[in-house]
Amino acid sequence: MGLAPQATAPAESSSAEMRRVSILGSTGSVGKSTVDLLQGHRDKYTVAALTAHRNVDLLAQQARSLGAELAVIGDASLYNALKAALSGSGIEAAAGDDAIVEAAAFDSDWIMAAIVGAAGIRSTLKAIEAGRTVALANKESLVCAGPFMMQAVEKSGATLLPVDSEHNAVFQVFDNAERQGIRRIILTASGGPFLRRTRAQLAGITPAEAVRHPTWAMGAKISVDSATMMNKSLEIIEAAYLFNLKNEQIDVLIHPQSVVHSMVEYVDGSILAQMGAPDMRTPIAYTLGWPHRVKTTGDKLDLTKNINLSFEQIDIDRFYAVNLARQAFNAGLGYPSALNAANEVAVAAFLAGQLPFDAIEKVAEVALQSIEIPAISNLDDIFAVDAAARAIATAAISALK
Ligand SMILES: NC(=O)c1ccc[n+]([C@@H]2O[C@H](COP(=O)([O-])OP(=O)(O)OC[C@H]3O[C@@H](n4cnc5c(N)ncnc54)[C@H](OP(=O)(O)O)[C@@H]3O)[C@@H](O)[C@H]2O)c1
Repeated sequence: MGLAPQATAPAESSSAEMRRVSILGSTGSVGKSTVDLLQGHRDKYTVAALTAHRNVDLLAQQARSLGAELAVIGDASLYNALKAALSGSGIEAAAGDDAIVEAAAFDSDWIMAAIVGAAGIRSTLKAIEAGRTVALANKESLVCAGPFMMQAVEKSGATLLPVDSEHNAVFQVFDNAERQGIRRIILTASGGPFLRRTRAQLAGITPAEAVRHPTWAMGAKISVDSATMMNKSLEIIEAAYLFNLKNEQIDVLIHPQSVVHSMVEYVDGSILAQMGAPDMRTPIAYTLGWPHRVKTTGDKLDLTKNINLSFEQIDIDRFYAVNLARQAFNAGLGYPSALNAANEVAVAAFLAGQLPFDAIEKVAEVALQSIEIPAISNLDDIFAVDAAARAIATAAISALK
């Protein structure tokens, strides 16, 4: 069925019916917000599986408090630690990357895909192939493997609901039944913590400064991506696959207040926007309750509190990651994966103090220019590109030292 069409939402289910839900990446920023929402709706949801990479203590604590059936830790060396942390609870423990992929097919009605980076691709695909309702936070799944994900959605009948606040906003105001009436979508971008700085003023920025986002509280990697605007770049590609749009139908505007989360412009001049406080619990709740609405305890927007909405064009020379994304998308399958992988390596090096902040996009650009993309016919080809781009990025970082 592809992207869940607004007009054909399923009939309301019985309020007494409990839905089974799972979270891939429950210990991360999106994962924790999802756990928080579930804690407030214990009467509506039972928790099937939770997964994490290394954070055994939090995973075990979440699994116990939500009464999960299965907890999976990605790092296989932590299996005994997880077993010990779950002892006496009756919760099944599993470990390793394959176990995370299997957890994606564990019996659930709804699954949150919130692993960060390309590491989340296989499990997202597995959840789609299992025909689940998939709340998609892991944008890398679409950026790197968009056509494979969307084909799998078609084949399995899975429902894909976007969690990224921008795509969730577009989804809420995108009239799928009237596609020919849509002129363009406008993704908003806060501009991150260094919006008013020139490139020359980016030297010496520390990881602590880069992860301090002015409006959103997020994981470290996506926070750095917001500061370079690589996040918006990846979101352009994500939107292209999700809504089946051409590059030129996706615009980006800087909107520092993060109140309007994105918009759809129709050919008659109408612009429909979704607004709200910058709190991920709102888009997550939208996907959790879809096609109904779910109450959240998160921040709410008070329109009487002097809200000043401003929009401006991006300075593309300053935030040139946006152009890299457009080039990568136009160049074809494989290039977005190379861009994403090189960026992941560069951001990790920056967070480890091994690469200056203002060199992150350079590393991604080098990878994009020097990668040779073979014919791509399956996910393994995508992972081969990912590995090649990581090697190029690592060499580029060494050369910059
Ligand atoms: N944060 C936001 O507000 C936000 C908004 C929109 C979209 N997104 C997207 O949502 C995704 C998650 O972002 P986040 O900010 O929540 O990330 P995060 O805080 O870094 O959390 C990442 C989660 O993935 C797990 N993980 C990391 N590496 C893994 C691996 N190799 N294998 C399996 N699991 C792994 C982590 O486990 P450990 O805790 O054990 O390391 C954690 O549970 C990203 O794709 C991001 O772009 C995030």
